[in-house]
Amino acid sequence: MSEFPSSSGTRRLTLRRPDDWHVHLRDGALLQAVVGHTARQFARAIVMPNLKPPITSVAQARGYRERILSALERSAGAEAAARFTPLMTAYLTETIEPAELERGHAEGVFTAAKLYPAGATTNSDAGVRDLARITAVLTCMERIGMPLLIHGEVTDPAVDIFDREAVFIERHLKPLLERHPQLKVVLEHITTADAVRFVEQGPATLAATITPHHLHINRNALFQGGLRPDLYCLPVAKREQHRLALRAAATSGNPKFFLGTDSAPHLRAAKESSCGCAGIYNAPYALESYAQVFGEENAIDQLEGFASIHGPRFYGLPLNPDTITIEQNTPDPDGAGLPALLELANGTDQPSRLVPFHAGEQLSWRVL
Ligand code: DOR
Ligand code: ZN
Repeated sequence: MSEFPSSSGTRRLTLRRPDDWHVHLRDGALLQAVVGHTARQFARAIVMPNLKPPITSVAQARGYRERILSALERSAGAEAAARFTPLMTAYLTETIEPAELERGHAEGVFTAAKLYPAGATTNSDAGVRDLARITAVLTCMERIGMPLLIHGEVTDPAVDIFDREAVFIERHLKPLLERHPQLKVVLEHITTADAVRFVEQGPATLAATITPHHLHINRNALFQGGLRPDLYCLPVAKREQHRLALRAAATSGNPKFFLGTDSAPHLRAAKESSCGCAGIYNAPYALESYAQVFGEENAIDQLEGFASIHGPRFYGLPLNPDTITIEQNTPDPDGAGLPALLELANGTDQPSRLVPFHAGEQLSWRVL
């Protein structure tokens, strides 16, 4: 990473181009509306498979990968599409065949597989109810070196929603790691000090992604002055002590923690509803959002490791050869801040209306 001042004297940093190790790109018109935001900053992205129906076969993943690249070409041009690599994942069900995963992995289609406990989140009904039913799948993944990405929350209604991650670790993750000591596991979008500690103390095969929103907000933000559906996601934000533990982990330089935005767009109408969808749309300013946190923690020198190095090292993929430059904004007390609502073209005559994370705020960095 290199730093030099801009002509106006503000800080300017050039870092290796980052990747997003966890993103929801959706499909159809919404895909076309959002994919450019991810591709603007990130060279590669691990694309979540929780479509309807979920991505469970090699053929589906190939088709989805093509739709992502053609949506990007339509919205941002051929050059943008040529620079971006979607890394596809398989959605684990209780009936998925190990041979399908192995073939997809060997053919370079499936980079990893995602475990959703059934009922844990958006489009997870086809997920796993009983981990014992996927033992053969996990054994196969362990043998071929295919990472398992976990939504780590129990769905037991008797467990308080704020405890679901910590309980998952004790009940399911610990025994799973003991049963599969060679399996590479990413505990996705961690939200608690319990998860931070568990990953730090766990084996070298275990890592975690951290979202920008869990670094910025605690659970109070959901109720600040009224109900805030745009800040509702799963796992839900926790107490301040947990947010602080996540900030310490992300900025520590520990290679077990890396960037995964969990950007999860839902149309504004679906968020502002009597049963609003879980998901925060942070892709438009994701790198800026992380940079703000690293700046506030006096750890901007750790941003490149977190954003661009730890992820590919864990996955066993090459680092990106190219760079991205971010520049510090001069604070503007009269400034309008980021837009409150994005109306994104999507190839239909109705734009996609989405509220971005940090709507109306001023961030201290921008991507050049
Ligand atoms: O908030 C979330 N939204 N968490 C998830 O796990 C899924 C995601 C989505 O797909 O909307
Ligand atoms: Zn997700």
